[in-house]
Amino acid sequence: MEISKRVQRVQPSGIRRFFDLVLGMKEVISLGVGEPDFITPWQIREAGIYSLEQGFTSYTSNKGLFKLRMGISRYLKSRYGLEYSPEDEILVTVGVSEGLDLVLRAIINPQDRILIPSPRYVSYGPLTELSGGIPVYLNTERQRFKLTPDIIERHVNSKAKAIILNYPANPTGISYTKKELERIKRAILKYNLICISDEIYGDLTYDFLHVPFATLAGAKNSTVYLSGFSKSYAMTGWRVGFACGPKRIIDAMTKIHQYTTMCVSITSQMAAYEALQTARSAVDEMRREYRRRREYVVDRLKELGIECVRPDGAFYVFASIKDTAFTSVDFAQRLLREQRVAVVPGTAFGEEFDGYIRISYASSFENLKEALIRIERFLKKNQRQ
Ligand SMILES: Cc1ncc(COP(=O)(O)O)c(C=O)c1O
Repeated sequence: MEISKRVQRVQPSGIRRFFDLVLGMKEVISLGVGEPDFITPWQIREAGIYSLEQGFTSYTSNKGLFKLRMGISRYLKSRYGLEYSPEDEILVTVGVSEGLDLVLRAIINPQDRILIPSPRYVSYGPLTELSGGIPVYLNTERQRFKLTPDIIERHVNSKAKAIILNYPANPTGISYTKKELERIKRAILKYNLICISDEIYGDLTYDFLHVPFATLAGAKNSTVYLSGFSKSYAMTGWRVGFACGPKRIIDAMTKIHQYTTMCVSITSQMAAYEALQTARSAVDEMRREYRRRREYVVDRLKELGIECVRPDGAFYVFASIKDTAFTSVDFAQRLLREQRVAVVPGTAFGEEFDGYIRISYASSFENLKEALIRIERFLKKNQRQ
């Protein structure tokens, strides 16, 4: 067989498979995709256009434009008091997606275990397997989707190399207070795990301040902090993210990045630089709007008798459909066919989450209102006898 066994073993993304169905259907309201419904703020787009007009069309340094790394360093210092050197502790990546791939490839030896709290973002398991590691999934359902030190204790062993944290989380929207993070940190440090902290939704935290894991006392030297521009600045298509961490890990990641990617597109890096300089108020405005939508969606689901954990951030609700007679795939397929509303089956985030669907509220208020009317109709029609 010409395809490597490792690649053959990896399953295609459950979300993609489902959304191939949506394509080509008319009048569908999609609460499926995890991307902002906003267009990138104008001044950011303009900076990209202007950089092209000025003739910036070359490669950049492998690590990314120095001025962008400086901008990231300054931003993290002023917002969180977090210090990373732009010279050797920051790498600009093709979204957080590339950052995740690089860090896993940089640290994994064959058979190393990577702890992954679940439900989980779709790429964590496959990227671990593609790097030769073994994902160990930590089910958090009983703790209202929050990781606790106990759960880590139950799954950790001498082969465990790292843990992937993600908060605010996709698909549940849960996040952690500083106190909760401190407890998790103690367990992570006790077992000498590397903490890969995917904080891509950090700017979209609604009720309390986001606390980067690397700001906790003693955590920075074993943490790789991943974030990016896709969600907070509505820049998914530009493909810019960044990884910050100890020089030894960033150097190893850069080694892989320089042979596979070389650098992020200079146009996108110029635009990202502008985002850091001038777009804070646009981010704040988008966050306010997502918060308003969260209130609406959570209240409406409650009215419909659908349970969910109130999200602290990001733009997802992980809603229980256990009171219906459907599996999550059946539910999503029938809702799509009968009412033209797309949501994602819970099993896309782990086989054991068949009792859930993920609803994204990164869709206009009008769409959300109409979608919830349709969901209500669907539930009435399909009530358990
Ligand atoms: C938790 C999480 N991490 C990473 C990504 C990838 O983002 P990027 O566009 O920066 O590659 C996503 C996108 O949905 C996500 O939800």
